[in-house]
Amino acid sequence: SDPDLVARATAAKATLGDRVFVLGHHYQRDEVIRFADVTGDSFRLAQQAAARPDAEFIVFCGVHFMAESADILTKPEQRVILPDLAAGCSMADMAVLGQVETAWEHFQDLGIAGDVVPVTYMNSSADIKGFVGRNSGVVCTSSNAKRALDWSFEQGSKVFFLPDQHLGRNTAVLEMGFDLDDCVLYDPHKPQGGLTDEQLRNAKMILWRGHCSVHGRFTIDSVRDVRERVPGVNVLVHPECRHEVVRAADYVGSTEYIIKALDAAPAGSSWAIGTELNLVRRLALAHPDKQVTFLDRTVCYCSTMNRIDLPHLVWTLEELVAGRVPNVITVDEETARAARIALDQMLALP
Ligand code: 13P
Ligand code: SF4
Repeated sequence: SDPDLVARATAAKATLGDRVFVLGHHYQRDEVIRFADVTGDSFRLAQQAAARPDAEFIVFCGVHFMAESADILTKPEQRVILPDLAAGCSMADMAVLGQVETAWEHFQDLGIAGDVVPVTYMNSSADIKGFVGRNSGVVCTSSNAKRALDWSFEQGSKVFFLPDQHLGRNTAVLEMGFDLDDCVLYDPHKPQGGLTDEQLRNAKMILWRGHCSVHGRFTIDSVRDVRERVPGVNVLVHPECRHEVVRAADYVGSTEYIIKALDAAPAGSSWAIGTELNLVRRLALAHPDKQVTFLDRTVCYCSTMNRIDLPHLVWTLEELVAGRVPNVITVDEETARAARIALDQMLALP
């Protein structure tokens, strides 16, 4: 990266000192990650944001829903900043509050809402987390989805899982022993979700029709090809991948899990990783004694994660030095109060 920008970021960060705390998600570019005080998966970053009550500014190098969660979990006087406001998440955008409320009203009309526990993946807007909090549900991340579902099935006999169908299905079927038939797909663009009353009454998991377009690129053929190309390869994927891909893989877990698995792997072992490319590239560099390849032949960055680049970070830090506070992410108090219930429920999971 540009040495002038590196020097400017270093200088601005030094001037701000403890007033600023920079969080970096594992999918961020190397040029940004080097300035992060803490890196992590979305669960760890939510915990870390809450663990810095003295930092005036939390600069969140990640995507919008993560910054919203950080705002909800931090003190009111702390400001959470997203260096590029266009860093959203297409999966989070797939569940809009009005659509979710329409689905819930339908469950109420059917008389099943009392049995349904809403669970939302962290990758959702604060509005959706607020809906879940108001209806006694829980937030989950890819590192605690099973624990969140275990808890939810103690509260009710059905789960309404938002917005990632794959994380919901993979956790229910591969980790909890449910049948594929126990899961139904609720399509918000179809009347009644495209489901019959009977399907809704019988289902244990009502999955929202959302997905991650980055992880959706991996197919069963990617797994077959890499096993042919690299004999003895360990296939390690993120649970946002499609069900058949996760089923065909050897290991599945969050970004933090993927990093730890590579740390623990013996020298000489081979790994094909099915997650975002910035992370896979960093893992390949960090483990020269292992063969680390990307699960697919095509390039596959998360374009919105990638929007946070060094020029945006430098601009953000220099604005703070100049006494201006750009790109503040604020969740309104009513939504935040409801969303905090669902987030706190997650943080309290056993
Ligand atoms: P984790 O960091 O929780 O594994 O999630 C990956 C992701 O897609 C974040 O958007
Ligand atoms: Fe959203 Fe997928 Fe990007 Fe994660 S990788 S931020 S789920 S689009």
